[in-house]
Amino acid sequence: MNSELPEGFSAESIPVHVAIIMDGNGRWAKKRLMNRVKGHEKGSETVRNVVRTSREMGISYLSLYAFSTENWDRPKSEVATLMSLLRRFLASEREEMLENNIRLNAIGELDRLPDKVRSDLENIMVETAGNTGMVLTLCLSYGARDELTAAMRAVAIKVGQGLLNPESLSQEDLAGHLYTAGMPDPDLLIRTSGEMRLSNFMLWQLAYTEFVFSPTLWPDFSEQEYLEILKGYQERDRRFGKVKDA
Ligand code: FPP
Repeated sequence: MNSELPEGFSAESIPVHVAIIMDGNGRWAKKRLMNRVKGHEKGSETVRNVVRTSREMGISYLSLYAFSTENWDRPKSEVATLMSLLRRFLASEREEMLENNIRLNAIGELDRLPDKVRSDLENIMVETAGNTGMVLTLCLSYGARDELTAAMRAVAIKVGQGLLNPESLSQEDLAGHLYTAGMPDPDLLIRTSGEMRLSNFMLWQLAYTEFVFSPTLWPDFSEQEYLEILKGYQERDRRFGKVKDA
């Protein structure tokens, strides 16, 4: 699918894994004197476009922070809207995922999601399980500290059972117990809306990730801006703490 990249892009320097903190839906609506719900609706359209562009650009993994563990504390009506938008998104994108070889994945405390959302997710995850073009990971009821705690709990249990040796515990052992086990770490993190914080997102996985903070509110995040960010990424000099040409 990346055989026809736009001018100025080379397949080798496209990030393998892009993670996005989609922020600013509420402010987008407020600026227009609209209910926050309208911002989330418009934000869902941006999600569709970003998924499509990512696939076209040959990105292998796209991870979207769609709902954090802290988001459960929002007003009930807003949580319900987000859940129904998610279902609407899944219903409308199912065909696109099947046609475009996209595998759906979901990570987080999925058992806290309403049954209907969970079963929609599970059905599409099963249907798309064999797809190899791109993995779309929705981070839902996700919190990195909970993820790390769960991983440490699982490791501790295995140590107790004699299945893991605490003396030789490695980074790979811990990473293998995160929700993202088997996925490469994000190469590029984008956060929209001008906020410059991680908000409990992929704290382990972002150790060497390139960050881009955009002032654009998520509903206004355009394909053009996304492509500019991808272009900027190509210019970055990633050294992973080492010196170049050593
Ligand atoms: C941040 O905006 C966004 C969210 C908490 C949810 C993201 C959800 C969507 C983009 C739509 C539904 C998701 C999918 C996958 C279809 P905010 O409400 O925190 O904005 P604010 O900081 O301006 O209040």
